[in-house]
Amino acid sequence: MQTILSGIKPSGTPHLGNYLGMLKPSLELMKRPQTRCFYFMADIHALNTIQNRELLRQYTYEAAAAWIALGLDPHQAILYRESDIPEISELNSLLAHAVPKSLMNQAHAYKAITQKNQEAGNEDLDDGVNMGLFNYPILMSADILAFDTDFVPVGKDQVQHLEITRDIARRFNVRHGECLKLPQVIVKEEVAVIPGLDGRKMSKSYENIIALFQPEKEMLKCINRIVTDTSPPEAPKDPDSSSLFAIYQGFAAKDQIEEMRAHYAKGIGWGQMKKELFEVIRSALGDAYKIYQELMSHPEELDRIFNEGAKKARAIARPIVDRARNAVGF
Ligand code: TRP
Repeated sequence: MQTILSGIKPSGTPHLGNYLGMLKPSLELMKRPQTRCFYFMADIHALNTIQNRELLRQYTYEAAAAWIALGLDPHQAILYRESDIPEISELNSLLAHAVPKSLMNQAHAYKAITQKNQEAGNEDLDDGVNMGLFNYPILMSADILAFDTDFVPVGKDQVQHLEITRDIARRFNVRHGECLKLPQVIVKEEVAVIPGLDGRKMSKSYENIIALFQPEKEMLKCINRIVTDTSPPEAPKDPDSSSLFAIYQGFAAKDQIEEMRAHYAKGIGWGQMKKELFEVIRSALGDAYKIYQELMSHPEELDRIFNEGAKKARAIARPIVDRARNAVGF
């Protein structure tokens, strides 16, 4: 039996980048035989950026509804909110002593902010950094290590966090004896970076996202806003530098992708390509939007699923965290 675990930070509306980077791979992994899947809403992580309680609840429901609408069966996978599992916070506090501060200084999310401050000529490089953000990789390690996780499917931006998790587990084990299981990362290389409307990585912080769940008309409008160059339809185009093609690859079948490469070589109009992109997205998502809406209008049903999931998850985390308590001498 192998344990697969992944989390989504509910700090914005789910978008195509979330789908291709994490949601879709996590759903595919559920089909593997002999696996137990833990999928959770990383709401304590989200608290670093979302301090409006209504919004935090809304995004948490949205993340869960997205997973279920896309095919996650809550009877098969254990679905829960991070904040419902006190064992995670407990392990978080047990790990801290084994983490050198310098390791946290290296984390991308933290470095990105200090760099921004430096570029802006701000003398306080830590301006805007709260301790939740600084400690993020430790909490993320606790999320993972509390379940003896074997595999963690994530987007490419999270690979460093997984390296840090392994590093922390190793340091803990050196001090206290073999106790924590080292997880392995699973990244789908071919869908590593999903570009957004402006060509930069699709991210809520760049405000360039395409929401996963919206009426078809709105989705098409959104796709039409993706930035392209001004080359005429008949000009041959390079698929590998095209945002539209990058997203298309995430949704289309192998033979469709090859065909599209040929179209690019011959020349395809951007308007035509946008229509094709819309079509593959529409067919990949199927009825998901309807199911999503249904779930979002019944948050009490989502609460029930969260409660069930928390019960199951806690029963599994408890002995693992007790093992760590015991290892340090408590
Ligand atoms: N950091 C991840 C993100 O921003 C979310 C996350 C939190 C996560 N804890 C995790 C992912 C544990 C995988 C495993 O997308």
